[in-house]
Amino acid sequence: MEILTVQLEPQKWQGDGLVLGLFQPEETNATVTLSPALSQLDQTLLGGTLQELITEAEFKAEAGGSVGGRVGGNSPIRKVLLLGMGSPSKATLDTWRKAGAQAIRWGNQQKCQSLALSVPFYNDDPHLTAQAMAEGILLANHQDKRFRSQPVNGKNGKNNEPTVQRVEFLDMPAVNSIETAQIIAQAVILARELVSAPANVVTPVTLAETARQIAENNPYLQVEILDREACAQLGMGAFLGVAQASVMPPQFIHLTYTDGTGAVPRKKLAIVGKGLTFDSGGLNLKTGAGSSIELMKMDMGGAAATLGCAQAISKLHPQGIEVHFIIAACENMISGNALHPGDIVTASNGKTIEVNNTDAEGRLTLADALVFADKLGVDAIVDLATLTGACIVALGDTVAGLWSNDDQLAEMIDRASKPAGEKFWRMPLEDAYFEQMKSVVADMKNTGSRSAGSITAALFLQKFVEKTKSWAHLDIAGPVWTDKESGYLNAGGTGYPVRTLVNLVLAFAEPITGDDT
Ligand code: BES
Ligand code: MN
Ligand code: ZN
Repeated sequence: MEILTVQLEPQKWQGDGLVLGLFQPEETNATVTLSPALSQLDQTLLGGTLQELITEAEFKAEAGGSVGGRVGGNSPIRKVLLLGMGSPSKATLDTWRKAGAQAIRWGNQQKCQSLALSVPFYNDDPHLTAQAMAEGILLANHQDKRFRSQPVNGKNGKNNEPTVQRVEFLDMPAVNSIETAQIIAQAVILARELVSAPANVVTPVTLAETARQIAENNPYLQVEILDREACAQLGMGAFLGVAQASVMPPQFIHLTYTDGTGAVPRKKLAIVGKGLTFDSGGLNLKTGAGSSIELMKMDMGGAAATLGCAQAISKLHPQGIEVHFIIAACENMISGNALHPGDIVTASNGKTIEVNNTDAEGRLTLADALVFADKLGVDAIVDLATLTGACIVALGDTVAGLWSNDDQLAEMIDRASKPAGEKFWRMPLEDAYFEQMKSVVADMKNTGSRSAGSITAALFLQKFVEKTKSWAHLDIAGPVWTDKESGYLNAGGTGYPVRTLVNLVLAFAEPITGDDT
């Protein structure tokens, strides 16, 4: 599919589907009035279809609302859709992402080959507008057919193959941000497909191979994969303890991005993603309804987003920064060789951990990954993990938890997340709660009580960041997966939070634009 801008008014366009994005009038309960230009288009070319649609549907342009129809006669435009964008004061870049998604879904349903969008601009900025809309279009259009033997039929048995070949953004100057959108969408789709693939397809070796592929032919990424022996050499007893019951070999993945200039980087950053390609819980097996063992293929969502980010950054090629992408990939399984609840493991910083619950495995793998990152002399470490069910209890499916020992880094993540349309809520590092994890026999236990489960998990991780001053932890257990299609998301892996990570890395290189109020 081709996406392009054209300096053309809607009345000059010819094609299958014309989508007109409209803000909601600020006066409450008013229906939409057409601008003089649209009114003219309606009367001269559309036989009054627009006004009829508005009147009949009492169309108010609420966000997500739409009304559309067939244009009669021999109009150069076959179908029109009026698309509500809500009140202008509430609009964010995600409004345009969702508008793009809604437009492409409609265009495909209506079997359009050519589609045009005419919308108000975000902040008078055609670049950000085009980027957000193109992202929404590409992400909504993504269909994961890898595991189907036959085409899937839509809800009413109709063929739902995408038909749209060409999308034009009307009344818009040329922008290069559509290329950026392609890069971002490909990265989000990479993460989605890694998360959606089952554990018999995406294994620790698959993650390592994916890292190798991303680095291949890209001069700015170096890849290093450590096997079990190399990890043992580094003393990664916590990571290898989790991995030890699986027949799949653990893989410690380290991608390094440099700008290729040879100059000393102004900033260095490490991104550490949890990479459990399956989490059975271990001997504390995930049993019973609600434990969702069959969904635990998604326990590598942090790793997937880390790889997506690495791919996007290597293509966007920001200057003056060095970024380390780190994943301790393994499976949490059971066998005669599994960790026993109560076993004591030693992490690579020498700290001993009593594993009182083998299902709190993510923090064990992250402990060694964080120690590795901590030795790199970076300015900041950000880890992301599908770490706790407790975080879902606290914040639900669409908001991730954010913990940080550095207000400035927390602020940067917040600012990076807004234009990305990904939500984070800052949670406290309540030191006193670490009491729960004191052990009788070892330096610490890996779990506390049920209370504040996502906070004690964060406090545990913090023990493994010693030298690096600035650290943040993102608990993404909720938002990495969705059962339902909505906006630009399709059911399955969401690719969360690739866009935030990319914005954050770019912010380390230069300030962010968009939604940065
Ligand atoms: N991978 C899970 C967390 C999770 C749960 C992610 C649901 C996505 C959806 C993690 O390894 C885990 O099992 N955490 C335990 C921790 C507990 C044993 C302290 C949990 O949340 O129950
Ligand atoms: Mn677990
Ligand atoms: Zn897990």
